Amino acid sequence: MKRPKGIVIAIDGPAGSGKSTVAKLLAKRLGYLYVDTGAMYRCVAFKALRLGMDINDEVMMSHLAQMTDIALQPQNDGSVRVLLDGEDVTEAIRTPEISEASSVVSAHRGVREALTEKQKLMADQGGVVMEGRDVQTVVVPDAEVKIFLTATLEERAKRRWLELKQREIEANYEQVLQELKERDERDSTRSIAPLRKAPDAIEIDTTNMTIDEVVDKIVELALTVKKSLAEC
Ligand code: DC
Repeated sequence: MKRPKGIVIAIDGPAGSGKSTVAKLLAKRLGYLYVDTGAMYRCVAFKALRLGMDINDEVMMSHLAQMTDIALQPQNDGSVRVLLDGEDVTEAIRTPEISEASSVVSAHRGVREALTEKQKLMADQGGVVMEGRDVQTVVVPDAEVKIFLTATLEERAKRRWLELKQREIEANYEQVLQELKERDERDSTRSIAPLRKAPDAIEIDTTNMTIDEVVDKIVELALTVKKSLAEC
């Protein structure tokens, strides 16, 4: 095996496709590190808004991304805390406002270059489940397992709306659906590293699947790949 700590499982897909939930459970089942690349874009957006900066200013945002320290710290219970310049922002970066702003900052080339570099370093050792929008196409194009998760727009909006409701964040379903649609459009049509399925990725439509069914399917794939690599 070319990576000392195991294989890399790269999972991409649009917002609400189940990526984060699936990636977290997968990492736990395999004893791997869970890397949420979206949280890193959220950190840059959070810091920019807090400092009152213009998130559309590419030069400023690129400098900000380079100067920002982001750590994903695994906890004993399998969860991961997000530290921005040492401050725990795990919950603070999960608001609709930051979702919107992170989609804007993630379209800037300099921001992507800075964060992609950090993500590549995290993947080098292996033993990682990494999820985002460009993990299988740009960050780890040689990942041993590549998964592209999808679900219908309506199903994804329903999941996002329920998640916000659970966290007692006021949300209207129609508005959530509209925002997801706009975010999908922006994430998949931007000129740099757009959300796209790699030709060799396996697509899983999660619309009518339970989380456990999705996780079981990927674990099976991962174990098959690990076994075949061990036999090489
Ligand atoms: O997965 P998420 O909703 O936390 O991601 C927040 C935003 O960051 C999303 O709109 C797109 C962007 N993103 C990206 O461009 N590339 C990634 N690898 C991960 C997220």
